[in-house]
Amino acid sequence: MGKSFFITFEGGEGVGKSTQIKILSDYLEKKMYKNIITREPGGTENAELIRNIVLKGKVDSWDATSEALLMFAARRDHFIRKIKPNLDNGISVLCDRFADSTMAYQGIAYGKTGLGVKKVEDLYKIVLGNFTPHLTFIMDLSVEESLHRIKKRDIDSINRYECMDIEFHKKLRLAFLDIAKNNKERCVVIDASKSIDDIHNEICNIIELKLLSK
Ligand code: TYD
Repeated sequence: MGKSFFITFEGGEGVGKSTQIKILSDYLEKKMYKNIITREPGGTENAELIRNIVLKGKVDSWDATSEALLMFAARRDHFIRKIKPNLDNGISVLCDRFADSTMAYQGIAYGKTGLGVKKVEDLYKIVLGNFTPHLTFIMDLSVEESLHRIKKRDIDSINRYECMDIEFHKKLRLAFLDIAKNNKERCVVIDASKSIDDIHNEICNIIELKLLSK
């Protein structure tokens, strides 16, 4: 059985994660690394049910603690039913958002009403123990560009978080950069303002260097 990797993509809104995940999946497939694409919140039947209740509705329909618990409930199901079984079978997992999003959104960007770093770390340990992604790409984009890209989206596809004010998005960006700074081994910051091809090449080079060649 070949090596398998758990690779996560994180960042604010409209940073182009899903585009990069798709082309990376094809690249890895060509190199004979079997892989699946999945997302959070979601990825399993139960977790997709949770996704529906968390992302839809009014901006303030949940407080940060309820939200974090729902995200981790979804994550636990996703982890035991999909992420771990695939990794154990030699299949790599490419995931659109993971626990860094809970830290950035519910932990930090909510400010005073958020859970703070410690509580999110504690929940992480309860739900996932010592498990961590092999590699995390933090896609970084200016808040102005991020909001500009969201505006172009179809109104029905806009979720609760994309309706938050500019201050929230600024805190979010800083939160992700902080996570990257505190997890230098695992996280790589990618300049998401570059072209799709340039970003893809950068991501492939990093994966070759940090995972495939080892
Ligand atoms: P999605 O439509 O997938 O947004 P994006 O394309 O920006 O990734 O919706 C996921 C939303 O859920 C996104 O706005 C971030 C939010 N989220 C959290 O707040 N906490 C979490 O733990 C996760 C996984 C996502």
